[in-house]
Amino acid sequence: MMRHLISAADLTRDEAIRILDTAEEMARVADRPIKKLPALRGRTICNLFFEDSTRTRISFEAAEKRLSADVINFAAKGSSVSKGESLKDTAQTLEAMGVDAVVIRHGASGAPYRLATSGWIDAPVVNAGDGTHQHPTQALLDAFTMRRRLVGPDAGIGRDLAGRRITVVGDILHSRVARSNVDLLHTLGAEVTLVAPPTLVPVGVGAWPCEVAYDLDAVLPKSDAVMMLRVQRERMNAAFFPTEREYSRRYGLDADRMARMPDHAIVMHPGPMVRGMEITAEVADSDRCTVVEQVAAGVSVRMAVLYLLLGGNESDTAHPRTEEK
Ligand code: NCD
Repeated sequence: MMRHLISAADLTRDEAIRILDTAEEMARVADRPIKKLPALRGRTICNLFFEDSTRTRISFEAAEKRLSADVINFAAKGSSVSKGESLKDTAQTLEAMGVDAVVIRHGASGAPYRLATSGWIDAPVVNAGDGTHQHPTQALLDAFTMRRRLVGPDAGIGRDLAGRRITVVGDILHSRVARSNVDLLHTLGAEVTLVAPPTLVPVGVGAWPCEVAYDLDAVLPKSDAVMMLRVQRERMNAAFFPTEREYSRRYGLDADRMARMPDHAIVMHPGPMVRGMEITAEVADSDRCTVVEQVAAGVSVRMAVLYLLLGGNESDTAHPRTEEK
């Protein structure tokens, strides 16, 4: 098992499957009346959020508490110190307090990598989303949801997503969710197609392990899962499409479009959804939409990641504290 979780691209197929299988075990804890394991008792985990978050933050906190870790929440938003300095100062404070793991969300792409490799801190670092770069636990919870829905039986335990056709639609340019999903889904054997207006497709996408298409209606009948993304206005400094109406008409998912998907196909969304923009309320609330399942999967997957990184199983031969990636 790796020492940190910075990018979905760092995971081998076996590591990813190990996390997903461990998450299935963790999911069973959620069905018990007392949803707690003693695995990380006495360990301290700090959640360092330099950027807004609802789901991811609550999900990490729930995962840490279910593993009996002590949790410190640090909301660094609004700090006036320049980013590099504040990150270093904060890291040294955490190191002095002896935290055992750091979960970090940061607006700057590369901040978690810097924290993990700077020598400022010795603890494992988990990336909870950095700029437009990566959001590896999101990709893992998405893969967990797809495996349950599209692979089965037994939730696809031990298996990958070979041959499954996944379509990711929307603001690819600004989406760390899209990047992480392309990397992980490729590792797990799925075939990924990105659909977006040409202005929201990143330069260099040709080097990514996926296809790019511009006609959503043509791709839907060949999709096992369709993942809708929010248009990330907060990361935009220009007009990338004429009007919201025009965007929704071509790239939004409504009931008519959903009817083009195969019967078994699911609709996914990482949240937060902008109903009426990339997805209609009817689709968001339909049985085919897994958004709530994805949130539940997030807790199980984050429990698995923290458990494996912190060596919850002391007899584990691949003890994360002694093995470099
Ligand atoms: C996403 C994010 O923050 O990267 N949300 C999430 O973590 N569930 C996507 C988004 O903000 O649109």
